[in-house]
Amino acid sequence: MGLKLSDDEVKRILNVLSDKTGIVFEERKMAEVYKHKLEDFIASLPYRDFNKLILDITTGRNKKLLEELVNRITVNETYFFRESYQFEVLVDYCIPEIVKSKSGSEPIRILSAPCSTGEEVYSIMIYLLEEGSYINRYDFMILGVDIDVKAIERAKKGIYSERSVHKLSRDLLEKYFQKVGKGQYQVKRFLREGANFLVVNILDKEKMLELGKFDVIFSRNMLIYFDAQNKAKAIDIFYELLNPGGFLFLGHAETLNAPDKFELVKYDNNFIYRRR
Ligand SMILES: C[S@@+](CC[C@H](N)C(=O)[O-])C[C@H]1O[C@@H](n2cnc3c(N)ncnc32)[C@H](O)[C@@H]1O
Repeated sequence: MGLKLSDDEVKRILNVLSDKTGIVFEERKMAEVYKHKLEDFIASLPYRDFNKLILDITTGRNKKLLEELVNRITVNETYFFRESYQFEVLVDYCIPEIVKSKSGSEPIRILSAPCSTGEEVYSIMIYLLEEGSYINRYDFMILGVDIDVKAIERAKKGIYSERSVHKLSRDLLEKYFQKVGKGQYQVKRFLREGANFLVVNILDKEKMLELGKFDVIFSRNMLIYFDAQNKAKAIDIFYELLNPGGFLFLGHAETLNAPDKFELVKYDNNFIYRRR
């Protein structure tokens, strides 16, 4: 018989995960979604003493366990060219704006935070390569960060399913991927070698500031899972990470209201935030 968690135990575990990730777990999803996910995960562990397990999770003294739990519970859903109009704005508007204040030798630094399994990072690279003129004249540094260790491992390997690449044209698929199995595509080596990936908790200000300054940050489809306090914290960190005049892209369902820090810029019917 499978293990059953009480509602209180589910809540206690999710509270620890909320503190660690900033994610707010919706009450209505507790019973159907999270409870099952947690029970499945716990059933796969060699723990005999359930109270010890709960204690190890809630006190955070077993770091590896907590890390695996975060991997299991986060929503990694993403795909190539998701909300691709933003990549168009990046190459048509943001990069030309950024280079106005760059000397030729300074790299243009782009952060994808969170990058999940890497599709966003590789999509940005493909857009820059397809546009062609800037990538030939400037050095680019593109970094993806995510709290999920497994997602970052997958990003580095760069192997994706049909579903993940469904928005790419045949031409782009042939140019930037090789088939490595039935319905499996691997990003070509030259792209993988040009991308950078790191496991970082976006709410860990010290670690984030160690990454250096950026000209563009993509933070799409994560803030929506945060409560107001953690969202404000993340926005403050992004503000500090961005160079003045740098750009912040959010997901289509995400907004921010910090007029002293960011102005809302409209380009071609799209909105982007620009650091003051
Ligand atoms: C839905 S994915 C978004 C991926 C991509 N940006 C996109 O829009 O397609 C959300 C990601 O946020 C990550 N995440 C959640 N909380 C995080 C945190 N505190 N620090 C870093 N990553 C976090 C999850 O691990 C997950 O991979």
